[in-house]
Amino acid sequence: MRPLEKELITMKIPELQQEILRLKKEKDVCILAHSYQTREITEVADFTGDSFALSVEASRVKNKTVIMCGVRFMAETVKLLSPEKTVFLANATAGCPMAEQMDKEMIAAFKKENPGVTVVAYINTTTDLKTVCDVCVTSSSAVKIVKKLPGDDILFIPDCNLGSFVAKNVPDKNIRTLKGGCPIHAAVEYSAVEEARMRHPGALLLVHPECVPKVTEAADYVGSTKGIIDFAMNCEGRDFIIGTEIAIASHLSYECPGKNFYPLSKELICPNMKATTLIDVYNTLLGQGGEEMILDGETMEKARVCIDRMIELG
Ligand code: 13P
Ligand code: SF4
Repeated sequence: MRPLEKELITMKIPELQQEILRLKKEKDVCILAHSYQTREITEVADFTGDSFALSVEASRVKNKTVIMCGVRFMAETVKLLSPEKTVFLANATAGCPMAEQMDKEMIAAFKKENPGVTVVAYINTTTDLKTVCDVCVTSSSAVKIVKKLPGDDILFIPDCNLGSFVAKNVPDKNIRTLKGGCPIHAAVEYSAVEEARMRHPGALLLVHPECVPKVTEAADYVGSTKGIIDFAMNCEGRDFIIGTEIAIASHLSYECPGKNFYPLSKELICPNMKATTLIDVYNTLLGQGGEEMILDGETMEKARVCIDRMIELG
């Protein structure tokens, strides 16, 4: 029986999780949680991972309904890869500010002024913006894909920090960027590296390429959320400073109890990623919350071209 509103408020987290698991089974729904979600959300999810891995998992499952606990562009990517499925974003207010920094008119104008340029879009972009881009990349595949592109004149959007990281690793191509990026990662200053290194001598510094070049240049490893997790789990080291959203240090502490994980900065908290609560997931399961991703056919078809190219080259 469905708990009353009053009971829901006084419910303890494990009870609410049990209720979510029961409903998920009853309604045959697949729940996806990005790795930046809190542990209480990842515990009720069928899959936890980075944005691209989640959309691939969603396209493989039999469930006709998928709930994404993450931000809007991630739910859109799930819909793009599984247009026949009903896809919900668990909290409709959760958007990625970086994904919304550029619009397609701006990019179309750039292309007109720079004929022959290849526009590479980080997956953290809206579906609408993807319609005018040539290829998508994730933080883990960006270098590999850009190296394989036939053209040498590249515009990398929207993250200029990830763009400079790619440019450093693909020096034979002319890679241009525009002013854009993740407000959370880009806010970490080099002084945080100095402080963390002083507080945790000998610890390895693992950093997301959305951080500014001065921070990534000082790191022992630069990689995507998945890359950082895999590196830390497989490395023989014991102490790690984690330069990405704070959830990764916390998940790793659960996964590797014998190792120590220290966030590079306590400010590395993405409020959009933290907007989703268990109550949002519960309400979405009941059809009383979340937002269904509705994308028009033509937009999906055009945006899918650069996603397919990413799969082909990645
Ligand atoms: P991933 O694609 O590595 O999941 O990263 C998403 C993101 O928002 C990083 O800040
Ligand atoms: Fe967007 Fe940055 Fe939050 Fe990732 S951490 S969802 S890039 S704002």
